[in-house]
Amino acid sequence: MKVIWILSCLVSLSAIFAANTCQRPKRLDKSFDIGSLDGSWYFVRGLNRNNDCYECHNITFYPAHQGLFFAEEYYIEIMNATTIHYSIESSLNQWNSTTPGVIRIDSSDVNYSLEWRIIDFGLNDNYAYVYYCGTYSGGFPFEGSVVLSRTTALSNDTLSKLEKVATSIGLNLDNYCKIRFDHCDQSSEL
Ligand SMILES: *[C@@H]1O[C@H](CO)[C@@H](O)[C@H](O)[C@H]1NC(C)=O
Ligand SMILES: *[C@@H]1O[C@H](CO)[C@@H](O)[C@H](O)[C@H]1NC(C)=O
Ligand SMILES: *[C@@H]1O[C@H](CO)[C@@H](O)[C@H](O)[C@H]1NC(C)=O
Ligand SMILES: *[C@@H]1O[C@H](CO)[C@@H](O)[C@H](O)[C@H]1NC(C)=O
Ligand SMILES: *[C@@H]1O[C@H](CO)[C@@H](O)[C@H](O)[C@H]1NC(C)=O
Repeated sequence: MKVIWILSCLVSLSAIFAANTCQRPKRLDKSFDIGSLDGSWYFVRGLNRNNDCYECHNITFYPAHQGLFFAEEYYIEIMNATTIHYSIESSLNQWNSTTPGVIRIDSSDVNYSLEWRIIDFGLNDNYAYVYYCGTYSGGFPFEGSVVLSRTTALSNDTLSKLEKVATSIGLNLDNYCKIRFDHCDQSSEL
């Protein structure tokens, strides 16, 4: 009993420690309304090569009940000429009632918990610039940043806006991979 209790303490401590290693940007869109995520989005830019750079990557958010959303995410990875399709379901809500712009995403499909921070959001709901910090299975921290867009390509106006915002938080949009959507129809191979 005691050993199990100590172990579970260690696990939760490591979760706290891991999350605290994230370099959260100072900037946060505190007027963000989680309801504006409703509908379908493409992930068009990604900073973390291990998590954010796929052949195709899109997500659809559905309102579930009061403040809670349900998400279906889809992405394709091509490894050694093999196309792998992933489909992930998760739930999300505002992290706490006093902090708009911070969203908690939990997925049992991959057993991760993510903190999404909305750095900037398009005035006409056309893009969302997100920083995230997460942990797998209560450990293994990871962080990154993505740009979601209602369309597969960003307009030049949005791009120059995002470049400025990235610079303001010490990041460079040129370091983000660009997700192309030209392999999305590849069928899975064995
Ligand atoms: C992703 O995009 C494809 C192609 O447009 C679409 O069929 C699919 O429903 C989308 N999936 C999600 C989760 O948005
Ligand atoms: C796939 O390619 C990587 C290098 O890109 C290699 O390390 C790995 O062994 C390959 N896997 C298979 C199953 O061939
Ligand atoms: C809610 O967010 C505020 C601002 O970040 C923070 O100070 C507070 O501790 C959070 N409350 C909970 C219950 O997480
Ligand atoms: C999922 O993560 C939790 C910690 O957040 C851990 O207690 C649990 O064992 C994990 N489950 C699996 C199936 O890995
Ligand atoms: C957007 O910018 C690129 C590169 O600067 C340029 O080639 C292209 O013509 C621009 N597109 C529009 C619609 O202005």
